[in-house]
Amino acid sequence: PAHKIAVIAGDGIGQEVMPEGIRAVEAAAAAFDIEIEWTHFDWACADFYQRHGEMLPPDWFTTLSQFEAIFFGAVGWPEVVPDHISLWGSLLRFRREFDQYINLRPVKLMPGVPCPLAGKKPEDIDFLVVRENTEGEYSDVGGILYPGTEREVAIQQSSFSRLGVDRVQRFALELARQRPKQHLTSATKSNGMAISMPYWDQRMAENARAFPEVRVDQYHIDILAARFVLSPERFDVVVASNLFGDILSDLGPACAGTIGIAPSANLNPERTTPSLFEPVHGSAPDIFGQGIANPIATIWSGAMMLDFLGNGEPRYRQAHDAILSAIEASLLAGPHTPDLGGSATTEAVGNAIANTIASH
Ligand code: NAI
Ligand code: MG
Repeated sequence: PAHKIAVIAGDGIGQEVMPEGIRAVEAAAAAFDIEIEWTHFDWACADFYQRHGEMLPPDWFTTLSQFEAIFFGAVGWPEVVPDHISLWGSLLRFRREFDQYINLRPVKLMPGVPCPLAGKKPEDIDFLVVRENTEGEYSDVGGILYPGTEREVAIQQSSFSRLGVDRVQRFALELARQRPKQHLTSATKSNGMAISMPYWDQRMAENARAFPEVRVDQYHIDILAARFVLSPERFDVVVASNLFGDILSDLGPACAGTIGIAPSANLNPERTTPSLFEPVHGSAPDIFGQGIANPIATIWSGAMMLDFLGNGEPRYRQAHDAILSAIEASLLAGPHTPDLGGSATTEAVGNAIANTIASH
């Protein structure tokens, strides 16, 4: 049966890159005998907000629950909707209410992409950041005490549940187990956050016992961030709490080149709710309307989606790999969008990649 995918292109260049993401996934699906049924929704954008005063319709949860995955472009158009409303009213609701507790970002220096770190080659930067996506430091427990007085104090609690910590750590351990290096790095700060982070470390040690093949180490977040920049070749899989993971999952892709190619996945590994695949970048109002946005981040996110849909089936892994090879070919030989120094359009790059996939 066909995989049912919900498409939400959203705002700005989300509208421009999404057709190229679909084109590439379609080409790979055709080549590997995979059937996909796309359903488009005009939600999570400024236009919808202007018409309805909300980012999503009231029945969004039931409607989207019928899909295996959501292919998402970008949301945000600050001229019309303040960013906290657009983000909290759509993307963050998907992540939280669909319990997409894994945020997964590959950090991979691709051939042909100028590396911002001196002297690094593609084989030096190839790791995955696994961020906890639902709890931790990003909680809404707290408030302002004695407001408006000299004693005013803002308090925001972190919460680390055993369930929440264990499931993200075990996911990262399993991911590391399946990779050749079998190495997991855990981000901590037990010298500063003296309750939650020792707890995180203690659960890590406990969870790691079921994965004796995996070499586990840990770094404090400050030195870990420095190591991302100075010695990225040290990493294979990196697991972190919500706040630390948020920072690392932007820093990582920044170390591997342009934001125009960085993909991400928000996963519910149990598959009880849809998972969401999206480029790391936003709606880029500064370049919208010119047809010059780089579609590679979205195409790569589509490849991650195929891999997830396959749940280990080799055909789907091959479809993923075919897309990645086509991206590499395009990064080496062109055409390139302006962010990579070329003058090609979004569509020209998307077409070239889809053609390479079809002739793999
Ligand atoms: P942004 O990622 O949209 O743009 C940052 C810079 O990177 C801009 O100069 C832009 O032109 C460039 N850029 C981004 N994607 C590109 C691509 N595919 N090809 C070539 N250049 C690209 O981040 P910014 O400007 O901070 O935010 C703009 C809007 O997007 C805001 O409303 C923000 O809230 C939203 N946003 C949404 C995200 C999402 O939907 N997941 C993520 C980040 C921002
Ligand atoms: Mg971020």
